[in-house]
Parts: sequence; structure tokens; C-alpha cells
Amino acid sequence: MDRRSRMLVLGCRGMLGTTALRHFAARYEMSGRDLPEIDITQPASIEEALRDESPDVVLNCAAYTAVDDCESQPERADSINGVAPGLIAKACDAAGALLVQISTDYVFDGRQQRPYIESDATGPLSVYGRSKLRGEQEVRAVGGAHLIARTAWLYGPGGRNFVETISRLLTTQPALRIVDDQHGSPTSTFELCRQIEALLATSCRGTYHTVCDGTCSWYDFALAIAAARQSETPIAPCSTGAFPRPAPRPASSRLSTEKLQRDTDYRPTHWRAALTEYMEERWRPSS
Ligand SMILES: NC(=O)c1ccc[n+]([C@@H]2O[C@H](COP(=O)([O-])OP(=O)(O)OC[C@H]3O[C@@H](n4cnc5c(N)ncnc54)[C@H](OP(=O)(O)O)[C@@H]3O)[C@@H](O)[C@H]2O)c1
Repeated sequence: MDRRSRMLVLGCRGMLGTTALRHFAARYEMSGRDLPEIDITQPASIEEALRDESPDVVLNCAAYTAVDDCESQPERADSINGVAPGLIAKACDAAGALLVQISTDYVFDGRQQRPYIESDATGPLSVYGRSKLRGEQEVRAVGGAHLIARTAWLYGPGGRNFVETISRLLTTQPALRIVDDQHGSPTSTFELCRQIEALLATSCRGTYHTVCDGTCSWYDFALAIAAARQSETPIAPCSTGAFPRPAPRPASSRLSTEKLQRDTDYRPTHWRAALTEYMEERWRPSS
């Protein structure tokens, strides 16, 4: 009997890595590494993991994701998000494994009126965005088998994310003001894993936008979270200018998933349905 395909998740204790380890277990024999067992900036560390696990697919969820902190730590951001994906791609190519690299809407400047397609010009505004773009470029330059999955506004179990932050603030603050002039597609780690699974079921390679269907502002997203939590805490819209942060954010993070839909038979879940699924799972009464 053929052996089951094997998947190695890097950054397996992060937000996406945690969901991925569980999600892909139905189809793959899973293994995972994170700091300190692996340091993706060290080629020997990557090679050892690939030698030990002999994966068919490597899902790289490891990254330096503190977007504002990246502004004051550009070398660290470049090393983890920019250079390391190229090292992983080289090791995957040598080992005959397919690399799935996770990227971001922050590779775009957010000034485009229509949703971004994969071939649109990039123009990151922040250190984080530039480092993630370099990661994509390094993976492509190796020329091995790869998928680059650009996602956005990600949330999931066990992570620091907008859904968790708003859910907490709704119970600790008398009122909230939330930015209403940035638009994107909130995407759960569950939905992102389903979209990656759909790509893995084909022979598709290259870059794909992998986000939920539909778009909203952070303010709309916060209202939906408050409704799901049955909170009556007042929420008011405000502009990005009211909350200056170290790293500039793209005003439009609308990513088109037409290519994903054309190349797979998958139809992305609407962000509202994905949020309901997450809220039900997250706050399910324990039996
Ligand atoms: N979160 C979002 O809103 C968002 C949006 C778009 C795209 N993305 C992308 O989605 C992917 C997953 O994001 P996430 O939110 O799941 O990230 P996360 O929760 O921050 O997890 C990243 C994991 O990588 C680990 N890591 C950091 N440096 C490492 C190194 N040198 N070697 C090995 N592991 C290392 C981290 O460990 P420590 O915690 O110990 O540092 C952490 O466990 C990333 O590529 C991110 O850029 C995220």
C-alpha cells in the first residue's frame, strides 16, 4: 500500500499553524516544528527537519507578524519573512517537496479601486509588507514547486487577532471607535486551510489570493463581532488618521479570488459565514 502523503507545518504553534495541524490531519500524515526546535533563518535547521520528516508538502506558517514592531526591527523582519522563505524553498527543491508559502495583502499599497489580482503591481507601504514581498520573490527565484497563498485580515483560535481583541474590548470598554476607511476580507484560519486544501488537490502552482468572499471595513467587522457576542457596547466609526500607528496600512486590501475559483472547484465562504463558524466554535459551551 502507498504511504500517506506527509505534510510538515513550520510555525506550527502560531495561529495558522495550529489550525493547519488539525485541518490537514484528515488527508496527510502531519508533523510540525516551531521555535525552538526549528529556526527558519538557519539552513541547517531547515535541512534537518526535512531530513527527519521527509515531507511531500511543507506549509510555511512561520513569520514575524508583529506589523508595527517590524518598523523598528527591519533586519529581523527581512531575515524571517524575506530571506528564510528562500532558504526553505531551496531545501524543499532539493528534497522534492512542494512549498506552500503564506503571504499577505500588505504587499500592495491599497490605492487601487478594483480588487487586486495576483499579477497586479506590488508596492508595500511597511517594513512588514516589504519583507513579505521579498519572501515571495525569494521563493519564486529558487524555481522549485511552490504555491504562494496571499491572505488578509486573518483570525483563528489561539492567536492575537481582531476578533479576540474586539471581543475583549466589548466587555472592558464603555464604547469603541473603529476605523471605517480601510477595507478588506476578514478570513478565518479554517477557511484559509480549506482554500489551500483546494489548491493542493490540483496541480496548480504559483501565486493565489486566498481570502473569504465579500469585503467590509474594520468598523463593519467590529459590528458583526458585537452582534455575534450580543453586545450592546456602542461602536462608532472613525478614520485611520484618528489612530496613528507605526506601520502604514493599505486602505484597500480587497483581493480577487477569481483565479482560485477558475483553477479549483472551490467557492470561498462569505466572511460573515466564516465569522459565524468561528464564533460558534470559539464560544461553544463546553459539554
Ligand atoms: N495575522 C494576520 O492577520 C495575517 C494576515 C495576512 C497574512 N498573514 C500571514 O499568515 C502567516 C501565519 O500568520 P499567523 O498570524 O498564524 O502568525 P503567528 O501566529 O505570529 O505565528 C507565527 C509563528 O512563527 C514562529 N516563528 C517566528 N520566527 C520563527 C523562526 N525564526 N523560526 C521558526 N518559527 C518562527 C512564531 O514563534 P514565536 O511566537 O515564538 O515568535 C509563531 O509561532 C504568516 O506568513 C503571516 O505573514 C497573517
